[in-house]
Amino acid sequence: MPDPIRVCFVCLGNICRSPTAEAIMAHRLGFDDLGVHVEVESAGTGDWHVGHPPDERARGEAARRGVPMAGVARQFTADDFGRFDLVLAMDADNREALRALAPSPEAAAKVHLLREFDPQAHGNHDVPDPYFGVSEGFAEMFDMVDRSVAGLIAHIGSTRPTG
Ligand code: 4NP
Repeated sequence: MPDPIRVCFVCLGNICRSPTAEAIMAHRLGFDDLGVHVEVESAGTGDWHVGHPPDERARGEAARRGVPMAGVARQFTADDFGRFDLVLAMDADNREALRALAPSPEAAAKVHLLREFDPQAHGNHDVPDPYFGVSEGFAEMFDMVDRSVAGLIAHIGSTRPTG
């Protein structure tokens, strides 16, 4: 078995978008045999919600879709770059915050936008922040993240080391 691929999803608060991505990825990986072990976590670039569970609207949307969601918010740190192979930001602001935190060019190169894997992104690679919006925003966010995570899993499956 090759080394695991370690993925961290990162948004601002780590209570809406990134825990949704972590939950969907863990759920989908339960059905996919990629031939490689994938570990998933999530974190926020901000510290306002550290220690909090995911937002109840995000949890409600996940529950409606049959996706288990748990976790406690934490802030992404410079040391985390050593623990992950892929750091997937939910939007360009968070990508810039992560790049600014990266201790080396190699670390910065681990940062990508999750929606680069969304076949329906049409050039818009941000997952909009649903926190201050209406509750329907959470369903849209879930769909966007779900498509992106499916694309990410297909990407990992097609590029995994063989042998
Ligand atoms: P998230 O959403 O980044 O998807 O977890 C947010 C949660 C909280 C805040 C902003 C975005 N906030 O400003 O408190």
